[in-house]
Formats: sequence, structure tokens, C-alpha cells
Amino acid sequence: MTEMTDNNSIQPKSAAAPDAAFSDHLLSWYDANRRSLPWRDDPSPYHVWLSEIMLQQTRVEAVKSYYARFLSELPDIASLAAADEDLYMKLWEGLGYYSRVRNLHAGAVMVTEQYGGQMPQTASELQKIPGIGSYTAAAIASIAFGECIPAIDGNLLRIFARLSCYPESIREEKAKKAAAEFFRSRMACSTADRPGDFNQALMDLGACVCVPNGVPQCEACPWQAHCHAKANGLCQELPYTAPKAARSIEHKTVFLIYYQGKLALRRRADSGLLAGLYEYPNADGTLTASEVSDYLRTLGFSAVQAHPLPAAKHIFSHKEWHMTGWEILADEWEEFTSGKPRKHELFLASSADLRDVYSIPSAFAKYTAQIRMDYLE
Ligand code: ADE
Repeated sequence: MTEMTDNNSIQPKSAAAPDAAFSDHLLSWYDANRRSLPWRDDPSPYHVWLSEIMLQQTRVEAVKSYYARFLSELPDIASLAAADEDLYMKLWEGLGYYSRVRNLHAGAVMVTEQYGGQMPQTASELQKIPGIGSYTAAAIASIAFGECIPAIDGNLLRIFARLSCYPESIREEKAKKAAAEFFRSRMACSTADRPGDFNQALMDLGACVCVPNGVPQCEACPWQAHCHAKANGLCQELPYTAPKAARSIEHKTVFLIYYQGKLALRRRADSGLLAGLYEYPNADGTLTASEVSDYLRTLGFSAVQAHPLPAAKHIFSHKEWHMTGWEILADEWEEFTSGKPRKHELFLASSADLRDVYSIPSAFAKYTAQIRMDYLE
């Protein structure tokens, strides 16, 4: 998709007034083309909630196996509310953004304690639940409860921008409001009362036809005759997105420290990036070999061997980590300084602990792949 630097040439077009034929056309297209997805088979509020949160993390294909595994362990809101943190974190491992699964759990506790175990049925009430924002609330309310409310995400914004030749950045709140009103009025005037299917039809249209990258498949679009971007040859230029602020870069040195058949880990702080997750010990900056020995001493280790590991990069939405790594074989560990635990609070994990208990965020994936299982018990 071309990112436009000058959108003055694009004039908004007043879209045709909402009419039932236009809206019904989308639903007929959906009936013939809908993707068969596991969460569509039994769209209970819990199923929709879980799938929507997972779908914010990654692609539909990748979500399918996570969704099935999560539900086989935690089949309903009550079991999620009662689950141990280590279990739901493990079920989320690899999906990233662990605050989302923590919120899902906190939400399940809230639904159990404050709503008698039943999800509230309106988008406005659903937004009181941790981790449920306007998009997720609208998706659950429309799909599970039939509320007439569009679930505005990137797909709907893009479709809206192309249909109406929307000339401004779709990152702005103003664009979300305009898209919400555009789709709400069309959803409301459909002869069939199927708001959940209307939203899911738009999700499928955005994923398969009115695609973000590459050439949109306009000949397959049920709305091609009404699309102003198509009529004006602007499908590749729209939507317009104002450039994002540059990401900051942080340098880190990551350590895989082996001691007595175990690997050193620690838990991150309870707030901030990757809050409360486990990680390999790491220091800010790119340490030189002699700084590495100094740092290891502050952790209480003395190293018999230190080997550099490959560099790695992880990109978060707002920052990048540029990492170098070291493999350390330690022969001594002073866990305590003058009888008190050291500040860094390291602990040792066996290979079974690494596999079954501690979820290490994918930011460290390159180092996880370097772990020498043959060094571990
Ligand atoms: N993306 C987000 N929610 C979705 C859904 N319910 N179906 C397909 N794709 C989606």
C-alpha cells in the first residue's frame, strides 16, 4: 500500500444514503464466502471474547491452535477465573502481549464475582471489564448478543476509507467516529437483523478482498459498484495513514547462565513492558567482555566460560530492543549478599520448568532457541 504524503488531491465523496439492498448484499456475500473459523461454530460470549483477544495478537491461522488449546484447558469463564497464573500464561506463550491474558483472567474474575458468571450483554457495560475496549466490546455485543454496533478495527477503517474516499488519516479518532456512523446506519437498515454477521462479513471482506497490502480484489467485492476509491482509481492510495512517531531504540545484553544443570531466570517488575513475565538476566547497554564479568559478579556468579551469542532484535509497537547475548557457564553462585538475597532476585530453572512452568516472552526468542538443553537437568 502506498503511504500518501499529500492527500490534498483526494476529495471525500458523499456515499449513497444507507439502503437495505446495499447492506443485504454484504450479508449475501458473507453467506456464500464466509471463512469457516472455530469460534464461529459456537459463538458464546466467552468464545467470542477469547478469540477476539487472541486475534488482536496474531493472524487468524496462527490463532486456531492457541484457541483450541486454551479452551481444552480452560473451557469456560469459571475455569479461567479459578486458573493459576502460570497455567494461563503458559497457554498464551508465543502470542505476546501477556497483559492481554492477565486482563482476560482479571475479567473472568470480575464476571464471576460481579456479574454472577454471565457476561454483560451491551457494549457499554462490556467495556467495564478489564482489557475490553471499544472494538472488543462491539464484537462481543454484536456477535454473541445481537447488538447493532460496528466493531471498528483496521479492516473496517480501510473499507470505509475506500468506499467513501476518506481524505484524512484513519489513525485519528475522528475517522473512527465517521466509520462507526457509516457502518452503524448501514447495519441498522439491513432487512436481516444480523449485526454480528455484518461485522464478521466486514472482517472477512477486509482480510480477503479489500486487503491492506497488495492489490485489492475489487472484482470479488459485493460493494464494488458503490466504491469511490475504485471509481477514482485510488484503491492503492487509500486509506491515508499519517506517519507514526519513530520508535526508540534500547540496547541490552542478555545472559544464558548455566549453573549446576539449571538456567538462571528472573521475573520482571509488576508494571511496565512485559510486566511480571520471566526473562533471562539482562543488562542495559551493549556490554564489553570485561563489563560482562563485572555484571556477572554483581549477580553473584563466577564464570568459568563465557561465549558470545548472536545479536537479536525485537520490535515492540513503540520501541526496539537491540540485543547482544552471552552464554555463561558458572561454577559458583553467591545467592546472598551479607545474608540478604541479592537485589536481582534470580532463581534457577530446570529444563522441565522451562518447558512447563515459565513463559519467556517472544522478545527473547532468539536466545530461547540458543538454550543448550544438554547442559540442563
Ligand atoms: N478478526 C478479528 N475478529 C475476527 C473474527 N471474529 N473473524 C475473523 N477475523 C477476525
